[in-house]
Amino acid sequence: MTDEPLVLGIETSCDETGVGIVRGRTLLADAIASSVEQHARFGGVVPEVASRAHLEAMVPTIERACATAGVALADVDAVAVTHGPGLAGALLVGVASAKALALGLGKPLYGVNHLAAHVAVDRLEHGELPEPCLALLVSGGHSSLLRVTDITGGGTDGGGVDPMGATIDDAAGEAFDKVARLLGLPFPGGPHIDRAAREGDRVAIDFPRGLSSRRDLERHRFDFSFSGLKTAVARWVEARERSGEPVPVADVAASFQEAVCDVLVRKALDAAASEGIEDLMIGGGVAANSRLRAMAEERAAELGVRVRVPRPGLCTDNGAMVAALGSTMVARGRTPSPLDLPADSSLPVTDVLAVAR
Ligand code: KG4
Ligand code: ZN
Repeated sequence: MTDEPLVLGIETSCDETGVGIVRGRTLLADAIASSVEQHARFGGVVPEVASRAHLEAMVPTIERACATAGVALADVDAVAVTHGPGLAGALLVGVASAKALALGLGKPLYGVNHLAAHVAVDRLEHGELPEPCLALLVSGGHSSLLRVTDITGGGTDGGGVDPMGATIDDAAGEAFDKVARLLGLPFPGGPHIDRAAREGDRVAIDFPRGLSSRRDLERHRFDFSFSGLKTAVARWVEARERSGEPVPVADVAASFQEAVCDVLVRKALDAAASEGIEDLMIGGGVAANSRLRAMAEERAAELGVRVRVPRPGLCTDNGAMVAALGSTMVARGRTPSPLDLPADSSLPVTDVLAVAR
């Protein structure tokens, strides 16, 4: 075990400064500093505030991760970092820090994709990811169905993480955040809707299921749309307020959550069936949602599909996921990234590892 490489991963794509340390598949430390409280009063992440917070938190978070793991920086065999997608200024702090570490330590650097890292993290909890597997990636910025044949992107055709569908408007997490705001719940809204929904009736209101009509399915079988749902919730709440009746927050939260989860799970299982894939991985911040986890387990079991969802703390942004993907890169002998590695705010999901240009 101990001769497996020690990989340090850095995550700064949004508002969490994450530093994870893994040895092989073993998670040794997952240190996080969040600037979420500084953004809450704006109802969304303020990029400039996030970048400054990363700058302040980076060195203490690295030190905390090393202390927890009981290792010294000199023990690190490779450094991995999220180089996209995400907020440009925030990514730059992580990328610059990772380069400095790699250069100072004389160790290889792996610039990896944030979205693939959300998938790779599950190997730390449930063992190596089966390939092929179907990944439902649901976060604040993305909602995608991915066919994963090589999580390092090193497939025979240079691929390995291939999109089957994605949202055509809002991401699932964005919908949670916007609906939470409408209901007067704090930012980020996902966990608050999740909590409020536990007291509510999920069939109280029949909210629309986006891109699910027969006609939509012809063109958008594996795509998602959540903006119509968000508008439907807004109209419903407005009508209630106009009538002078109180808004039943728990029922609205539960019915909205049901509509989101229903579409996500149905399309994910349809995509798996269409590819003959029997393993479904769910990752990203929204995968922390309790109803999504329960519904996916239940419906997948009926179809004989195995579901893997990391524990909630590994679903939301963290450094362990970056270390988990970095350590897979090392294990599979992928060529490290060049030290002129850029930050790429709109990095496509298919670009899993930064290579020399
Ligand atoms: O993956 P993530 O931490 O950051 C991005 O890469 O975007 O995802 C953050 C998103 C937010 O929109 C947040 O509201 C949502 O994940 N989220 C949840 C839950 N926990 C976090 N959504 C629904 N239920 C939750 N329990
Ligand atoms: Zn994320």
